Amino acid sequence: MSLIDNWLKAIRTRTVAFIAIVLAVAVTAISCSSSPSASSGDTVAGIPPELVVDYIHTVAASDRTAYTKHVVARLKKLEGNEKPNGVVPAEATEAWQQVGGIPLPAQMFRLGAELASEDGDFTIGLISPWNINDNQAPKGEFEEVGMQKVIETGEPYKGYQEIGGQKYYSAIYPDPAVAEACASCHNAHPVHRERYPDKVFKLNDVMGGVVINLPLSGA
Ligand code: HEC
Repeated sequence: MSLIDNWLKAIRTRTVAFIAIVLAVAVTAISCSSSPSASSGDTVAGIPPELVVDYIHTVAASDRTAYTKHVVARLKKLEGNEKPNGVVPAEATEAWQQVGGIPLPAQMFRLGAELASEDGDFTIGLISPWNINDNQAPKGEFEEVGMQKVIETGEPYKGYQEIGGQKYYSAIYPDPAVAEACASCHNAHPVHRERYPDKVFKLNDVMGGVVINLPLSGA
């Protein structure tokens, strides 16, 4: 348990550190690109916000997939062989804190997202119109309209929005059922069955979205 704890902590620390570097570059880019240039000679090549959100998403999505494939999956199967009693005596379960298990991929994602969002430089989260967790419904016009577009097209949805006087560059990326387990666990969940009895996820369906909000200074 404590070994896994330490390891997860190390992964989280590395992720936050990496995001911090990306962000440092991003903030420089944004402050450079939004400051009026005195002459055309002193323009600094900046990283546009649509690229910054891509970087953040790539890191977060890769970590979640790696956690799903190389931690959660290995609790049951080791190098392709079934291990009915687990490779280590742990289970990935929603009530992980109560039963001494480890978090589900979505919960792991949120734990990291909360740490990354703490300093207010940007926020990242999961949403879905078929949400199990009440806090993860699409909120506001950008998320409601954008989530529907992402489900229809399977493509990211990006744009500027203003929340409480603060301008943001925001993006919603599709969150597809990359494994059979994504679909089957959600389909079987009691909250899902009660709220969305007609929604049956299949492999590769878009199940929701990853939302990133990047506050813009000087807007
Ligand atoms: C063993 C069960 C299980 C598996 C496997 C699983 N999920 Fe979830 N997922 C949940 C539960 C339970 C929640 C709500 C928990 C929370 O976030 O507090 C959730 C939350 C989510 C959300 C946020 C919206 C919501 O329902 O609250 C998305 C999007 C999502 N999962 C997509 C996926 C994808 C994609 C995969 C596969 C990579 C996956 N899930 C794998 C059980 C599972």
